[in-house]
Amino acid sequence: EQAGKGEYDHFMLKEIHEQPTSLAQAIEGRIDPENGRIALDGFEPGAFEEIDSVQLIACGTSYHAALYGSLALNQAGVESTALLANEYSVAAPPVDEDTLVIAVTQSGETADTLNALRQAKSEGADTLTVTNVVGSTAAREADDALFIRAGPEIGVAATKTFSSQAVMLTLLAQRIADDAAGEPAADLEALLPDLAAMPEQIEGILADSDAEWIASRYQDSRSYFFIGRGLGYPVALEGALKFKEITYEHAEGFASGELKHGPLALVTPETPVFAVFTGEEDEKTLKNAEEAQTRGAPVVAVCPDDHRAVEVADAHLEIPETDPDLAGLLANVQLQLVSYYAADLLDRPIDKPRNLAKSVTVE
Ligand code: AGP
Repeated sequence: EQAGKGEYDHFMLKEIHEQPTSLAQAIEGRIDPENGRIALDGFEPGAFEEIDSVQLIACGTSYHAALYGSLALNQAGVESTALLANEYSVAAPPVDEDTLVIAVTQSGETADTLNALRQAKSEGADTLTVTNVVGSTAAREADDALFIRAGPEIGVAATKTFSSQAVMLTLLAQRIADDAAGEPAADLEALLPDLAAMPEQIEGILADSDAEWIASRYQDSRSYFFIGRGLGYPVALEGALKFKEITYEHAEGFASGELKHGPLALVTPETPVFAVFTGEEDEKTLKNAEEAQTRGAPVVAVCPDDHRAVEVADAHLEIPETDPDLAGLLANVQLQLVSYYAADLLDRPIDKPRNLAKSVTVE
């Protein structure tokens, strides 16, 4: 097992460091050099033109990627919603043959997700899975499959598969929007150079992160909060899930604007708030973070170096400038590192947290 970890103490850290490669693989060949449009294996131009709404179904970290994809679709003008697969049997909106239901699942074997996929299929929806495992049950049962090409992920805590799912869904959102409009979406031109730069930007974060120092600075806290807006919201949820999963400490993610609707009652000097800034109404997120800071909470801003939040915050995790569609994924790498180092300080069994399995094959 040690041999498989290479120079790293844990698979999780190795997999965090594999993200420049796994993301390059997720993107490779999926942008047509001729016309700069999204090319997806098995999908002819216009393949999605009849789709009038999209439902994304998933659990856990994959649900956070699904939420990211759903927001990307909505922002690209396509009606969509992300649903927890384990709620689907009691909460599914109606579907018809113009509904695309996307099962997002790293393993392709999660029972809750497979059940929801089967339900959607039996009700007549068009189905697709976004998965890491070729030959998985989801890949076999969905009408179509898109593979994220992240390579094997051994750590129970999903890291590189989350970022690859989110990137795959970002590409897919652009493609569905393109097909629906019958012309290239304007957003795509701005996004492509930043997408191409992302693997190198992540290398930069991994080479020079303050995450270890920040994990140790706040290690005696009572609870850890993560906030974000827009595409920063699923990243905040994912930051908190990762943190609780491997440190066994209490953590919660919130939409920034929700803090004042209840969670603020929990905020004290012992509850650091990690605030993710994606460039989507950042001034509002900063105000929300300052409301927590006024109650004594230390604020850790995850944002570019020249961002106004850096002056206000108690600590800073730097991310490079990029498109708002991708900024949350850079922030996510910093949050993965914070969770990892916080768990390491506590000497937790990082790759195999108690009570959890890599793939949950029971309902
Ligand atoms: C996250 O770190 C967990 N491994 C878990 O939430 C996972 O994402 C969930 O069980 C869904 O798994 P899947 O992607 O294989 O369907």
